[in-house]
Amino acid sequence: MESIWTKTCRMPAFPSLTAGMDVDVAVIGGGMAGILTAYLLKDSGLSVAVFEKDKIGRGATAFTTAKITSQHGRIYTDLIKYLGREKARQYAATQQKAISCYKKIAEQEHISCCLEETSSYLYSTVDAEQLKKEEESAVTLGLPASFTRQTELPFPVTGAVRFEHQAQFHPLRFLRAVASQLTVYEHAEALKIHGHRIDIRSGKDIHTVRAGQIVIATHFPLLNIPGFYFLRQHQELSYLLALDRAAHLTGMYYCCDPGGYTFRSFGRYTLFGGLGHRSGKLCPGDSYRRLWHHARRMYPRAAVAAHWSNEDPMPHDRVPFIGPYSIWMPHLYVATGFQKWGMTGAMTAALSLSDHILGRSDGHYSIYSPQRLSVRSGLGPFLTDVGHTTVHLLLQKPFVPYGKKNHIEKGFGPTCTHLGCTLSYNPADHTWDCPCHGSRFTEDGTPLTGPARRPLKE
Ligand SMILES: Cc1cc2nc3c(=O)[nH]c(=O)nc-3n(C[C@H](O)[C@H](O)[C@H](O)COP(=O)(O)OP(=O)(O)OC[C@H]3O[C@@H](n4cnc5c(N)ncnc54)[C@H](O)[C@@H]3O)c2cc1C
Ligand code: FES
Repeated sequence: MESIWTKTCRMPAFPSLTAGMDVDVAVIGGGMAGILTAYLLKDSGLSVAVFEKDKIGRGATAFTTAKITSQHGRIYTDLIKYLGREKARQYAATQQKAISCYKKIAEQEHISCCLEETSSYLYSTVDAEQLKKEEESAVTLGLPASFTRQTELPFPVTGAVRFEHQAQFHPLRFLRAVASQLTVYEHAEALKIHGHRIDIRSGKDIHTVRAGQIVIATHFPLLNIPGFYFLRQHQELSYLLALDRAAHLTGMYYCCDPGGYTFRSFGRYTLFGGLGHRSGKLCPGDSYRRLWHHARRMYPRAAVAAHWSNEDPMPHDRVPFIGPYSIWMPHLYVATGFQKWGMTGAMTAALSLSDHILGRSDGHYSIYSPQRLSVRSGLGPFLTDVGHTTVHLLLQKPFVPYGKKNHIEKGFGPTCTHLGCTLSYNPADHTWDCPCHGSRFTEDGTPLTGPARRPLKE
């Protein structure tokens, strides 16, 4: 799969691991979260190395829409309601800080990544009242929010909340520039972690890396136990088109209505996305065609330059997990659960984890603690997820794959190699997707995204 970012940025090759080694900090995963964490530690005097199983910037970071914003849907009203005003203020302040850090790094390092300051809009076509409430909540938390009915969208809206001084960029051009200053090993897959030792597969060899501290930035965490992150979040998948010859937008737009769409421009292209659903949910037909059908009604002259999908883990209480992996392993850290806002999420993770590792953590990021217990906001989604997983573990679902040469056959979905749920066929991407925790596999059974790591059996 190619996104507009992979089509417009050649990534450099980094060496593979040829022997075991000792480092102060090992970062596992070369996406935005892992690379930024290593970058913020590079001048600390500690030796830091990134280990990436494939090539850097080929995970979720390659398939994002790359809006850099603290406007994460209609979140602030809920955060105030469920976590209280102080925690909500902490979330807002840390996400705003992440935006400034991107701007600062791009400027200091002279990175040519099309980073531009712009406004972000959360819009609705049905309900202005909930947006007015969200605007009030955001303003009380110190965010640059205002209510408007004026947008550049090709349809009327009932209202929108505008956040000023946000940003958008080319994520891979930024990542490439930052990673060029780091020690990175590609095709280096972390297999197991025992204490301070990591078994890393490089080609046919397995090498041992000994690290004082270990950061797991693998998008979905690598270890099931401890941490149990697979019980604390599920994954959601969405589809995107890069449209040529659609109207240029200066702002970034995100809809808070169910089934709404996302928009932003990049150069001559307009990115248009939506049709999000829980990964592994059976969806009839080709989602790209459905998206294209909507796009054509708005932009009759447009043509599709690229199409892709992406998924992200969604924590039950709508707050990412950033910090110590578990109380049992204090030298191990995690960054996950960015709920489709992993650009500011990754920067927040890098700022928080580098503070932890350098012993200067002062509670500024306590809202993200993976050891938190959010009963009020998290219990409902947790029970829904457990019910969902139980059903898919117990039931063998019949499926109808739309395979090669339109060959249609009836049978049963294969079994996921993570914990054994029955997979669903995704006819848009020709993948097998897991409804339990969102692992995805190619038609021939190769794992595409975690938590599953082993290929499907025949
Ligand atoms: C449709 C969609 C649109 C989005 N748009 C936005 C947006 O506009 N703004 C925003 O802020 N966020 C957005 N996001 C979210 C954002 O893209 C992600 O949260 C973010 O890219 C995650 O970065 P990451 O570094 O955690 O993961 P990744 O980029 O996936 O990096 C993880 C890396 O770890 C590697 N890895 C995995 N296992 C191992 C192992 N065992 N050993 C070594 N390496 C390993 C992988 O190969 C991968 O390279 C969007 C998400 C979706 C689904
Ligand atoms: S991803 Fe957990 S069972 Fe499939």
